Amino acid sequence: MRVREVQLEDFRNYPQLHVACDARRVVLLGENGQGKTNLLEAIYLGLTGSSFRTARDREMIRWGQSGYRVRLEVEREDGPAEVTIATQAHADGGGASRRQVRVNATAVAARELRGFFSAVVFTPDTLFLIKGGPQERRQFLDELLSQASSYYRHHLQRYQRVLAQRNHILQQAAAAGAGRARSQLLETFTDVFLESAARLWERRLWAVSHLAKAAAQAYQQIAGSSEPFTLAYESEAVPAATPVAEVENSQDWVTLRHWLERRLEAVADLEWRRGMTLVGPQRDDLRVMSGRVDLRTFGSQGQQRSAVLALKLAEVCFLEQQTGRWPVFLLDDVLSELDPDRRQRFLRTIPSPTQVWITTAEPELLRTLQADDPKGGLDDLVLRVTDGRMEFPRME
Ligand SMILES: Nc1ncnc2c1ncn2[C@@H]1O[C@H](COP(=O)(O)OP(=O)(O)O)[C@@H](O)[C@H]1O
Ligand SMILES: [Mg+2]
Repeated sequence: MRVREVQLEDFRNYPQLHVACDARRVVLLGENGQGKTNLLEAIYLGLTGSSFRTARDREMIRWGQSGYRVRLEVEREDGPAEVTIATQAHADGGGASRRQVRVNATAVAARELRGFFSAVVFTPDTLFLIKGGPQERRQFLDELLSQASSYYRHHLQRYQRVLAQRNHILQQAAAAGAGRARSQLLETFTDVFLESAARLWERRLWAVSHLAKAAAQAYQQIAGSSEPFTLAYESEAVPAATPVAEVENSQDWVTLRHWLERRLEAVADLEWRRGMTLVGPQRDDLRVMSGRVDLRTFGSQGQQRSAVLALKLAEVCFLEQQTGRWPVFLLDDVLSELDPDRRQRFLRTIPSPTQVWITTAEPELLRTLQADDPKGGLDDLVLRVTDGRMEFPRME
């Protein structure tokens, strides 16, 4: 997939922008605070329906304005497409903004954009994928699987809703201090919870087994060594090494549902006292290891970096396998933090059909990128960003 054109109106610090970007690699060069990340945010928004920086849509409206518009022309493996997202804030300044999303002039829900396009973003914060808490790694899996299948999007949404409902009932009961009681409502929610949770598990386990292979290969390429690399899905309720079928209509979730049902029953009294759901996908983790070393706690900085790069590359490949489209890969300010060897090996590991966007404040980096590239940067488009405007730089 390739973004060929970007058009912005009143998006962040861009009053107006219209830029053609039909290149395999697009480098955005500019000092800090000029709008490089804002542009990647607009692209990610157009391709996935959400920002990687904020959950508040109106934050992206240019200050003092009443709405933004983002339009992308995208060349996909299955044909060209145009996407537009337009947001209009309420006149009184309060409440949620109104948003309209269209693909080829047909209105769609924002979350359905993931069925048309895909994007993978990598920012300095992505390092928390290894160093941060379990939440970061669950989000990684949820985002990846949401882009890969509407089935997952559907069950994730259902599951999040019913988990909140279930927690609410338990919380009220715990606050009242009455102890465990029969609740028809809770049983109904528990039923939906069990099914959605088990379906999420099935997909997550299956994705991890796929990612593990791709990530191990990428890790070794990036680290330039044969150091082992493993991923494991960790769950209190799912026995380790549970085999899961690779087919969409697998019934493995039924087994997973039984496991969860038994675990839930075992902690039922405690749930009524503590006022929350104590087992399920919301409590799991993804373990990232080299040999027997857990990279989260014991990895060196170099190992942790290689692990993040490897996971992101595995994500790119996973999405292609699942959707038949190479996602657009957005690298925000991350290359200058890598040592030159690791950077070069990382860039060489990116599959060649992938369109890559790179932002940097360092003109030096551009020179090394081009020197590393077998084509000497011939496929590169370099854009200079200054205060929400774009120009082609003069090359010396
Ligand atoms: N909603 C907004 N309206 C106008 N300007 C904004 C908005 N949100 C952020 N900015 C401005 O955008 C600039 C940051 O742009 P950013 O893309 O993060 O810079 P960088 O080039 O360092 O990546 C800052 O100057 C900030 O004040
Ligand atoms: Mg930035």
